[in-house]
Order: sequence, then C-alpha cells, then structure tokens
Amino acid sequence: MSQLDGKVALVTGGARGIGRGIALALANAGADVAVSDIETMPSTAQQYGATAVGGFTQARKTAEEIIALGRRSLAIQADVTQKGDTRRMVEEVCGALGGLDIMVCNAGVVNMAKVEDMSEDAWDLTFAVNTKGVFLSCQAAIPALKNRGGGLIINIASIAGKSGFGGLAHYCASKFAVVGFTNSLAKELAQANIRVNAICPGILRTQMWEYLAESLKQPDESKEDSWQRWVKNVIPQGRPQTPDDIGQLAVYLSVAENVTGQAINVDGGIELH
Ligand SMILES: NC(=O)c1ccc[n+]([C@@H]2O[C@H](COP(=O)([O-])OP(=O)(O)OC[C@H]3O[C@@H](n4cnc5c(N)ncnc54)[C@H](O)[C@@H]3O)[C@@H](O)[C@H]2O)c1
Repeated sequence: MSQLDGKVALVTGGARGIGRGIALALANAGADVAVSDIETMPSTAQQYGATAVGGFTQARKTAEEIIALGRRSLAIQADVTQKGDTRRMVEEVCGALGGLDIMVCNAGVVNMAKVEDMSEDAWDLTFAVNTKGVFLSCQAAIPALKNRGGGLIINIASIAGKSGFGGLAHYCASKFAVVGFTNSLAKELAQANIRVNAICPGILRTQMWEYLAESLKQPDESKEDSWQRWVKNVIPQGRPQTPDDIGQLAVYLSVAENVTGQAINVDGGIELH
C-alpha cells in the first residue's frame, strides 16, 4: 500500500513546472491528483510575456502522465483569480474523484519592474494570481476538506516571501502575504483538523526562471551565464532546486500530522528563517 492511497489532491497551476512536480510526486505516493490551469491570461505582465499561455492544454498532458502512473486524474480549466472558477474546480474534483483531501495552491506569476516604473497592471496581476488566487482557492477548498473530516492545504510561497529582492517588490509583497495568510489560516483551521502550510521554493529553472534569467542579464552576458551566476552566487549549495524536490516536501507534509502554520524553505540554504 502506498503512503497516500485513497487521498485526493488538487494542484492549481499544475500543468508544468513546480505544480506538475508536486502533482507527480503526490501521484507517485498513491494519491489521485487533479490539475487545474489557465489557457490565456488577461495581461502580458508575467513570465510568458504573452496572453496565450497554453496552461490547460499542458494540464491535460500532466493528467495523462498521472493516469499512466495508475492513479485517477483530470484536468480542469480554471482561473484562480475568479471566485466562480475556484468553486467549480473544487466541485469538479469532488464530483469526479469523490472528495478532496489535499489542496495545493501553486498557480503564480512573476514580473520584474522597479517600483518607480511599475505599472498598476503588473502590480494588480501579481496580487490577483499570487495572493487573491491563494485566498479564493483555499476558501473554495475548506468545505470540501471539512466534508472529509479534515485535510491539508499547501500554499506555494517563495524565498521572496521571506526577504525582499530589488525589481521584485510586487512579487515579494504578494508572497509575504501568502506566508501571513498561511500562518493565520493554520490557526483558524487547527480545530477542524485541517493543516495549512506554505512551501518556499528557492531557484528552479521553470518558465519563471527562464524569464528572470533573461531579465537579470548583465550587459554582454547570455541568459545561460545569467542563470549560472545566480545558481553559483546565490545558492549556498551551488545547485538549483527541482520540481521533484518541492513535490517530496508536499508528500512529507501530507503525512506530517503535527506540522501546521509553517513556511518551509527548499532553497539550498539561501534563507535561514
Ligand atoms: N521557479 C522558481 O524558481 C520559483 C521560486 C519560488 C516560488 N515559485 C512559485 O512556484 C509557483 C509555480 O511557479 P513555476 O516556477 O512552476 O512557474 P510556471 O510558469 O512554470 O508555472 C506556473 C503555472 O501557473 C499557471 N497560472 C498562472 N496564472 C494562473 C491563473 N490565474 N489561474 C490558474 N493557473 C495560473 C500557469 O499557466 C503555469 O502553468 C508559483 O507560485 C511561483 O511563484 C517559483
């Protein structure tokens, strides 16, 4: 019998990157896992630099990978910034997979801008997805988790939710908010047998870091050199993290009955608090 046999999880932004890594790790540990994502965004002020991001198309492929592991899965098209979408995505999971035990709020966007040049659009999109999206996804999931007698929420914050970075004030503020929200919700839901934790990933070469490596390039530096400079200079262990590293912590949190209200770094030693 696998660790998470009989458990049902939902991962927002689960099409690719960290979300896909978490979904596959939970499925490998025995859970049935639904993934939700978005096909188009209202603004280009994010890592894809285009409104067509193809997340739902990709989410279908991730769901197929989960089914190939012998678990049940489904892909759901849902925008975490829309209350109706978040309610529907939880209903679809409960309808198709029988309930919900583990809610992973992972969908996120990044954009680089100095505060003096920052557009309201960039600020609003960052907060809509990274912060309001976590609130709406948690709010939608809570009744379903209560129906199962308890459960787990994992919110994906960042090391940028522990310390500031120049050029990322809106992103950092949105992730600090996720950490505070997680701490508070853990206390609110402790008596309902629902644990709430955040994971703070370090530096992973997903689409988010493809964008950041390009944006942080020094004059005459290639994107590859920019990426390597960050890995070597910023991460004490000198190696990037992987989506499976984050997935393994999600599996651990799924069985760690006395761990709640935490914001745990997986970052090779960058943040020590
Ligand atoms: N990559 C890193 O180094 C890093 C570090 C720390 C934290 N994070 C966080 O990890 C999470 C995943 O990021 P990633 O690196 O895998 O990036 P990614 O771009 O590979 O994946 C993000 C996913 O979220 C989806 N998404 C965006 N807006 C959405 C919305 N409104 N509704 C539903 N889905 C939406 C995207 O379509 C995409 O599939 C984010 O919350 C991010 O802030 C990433």
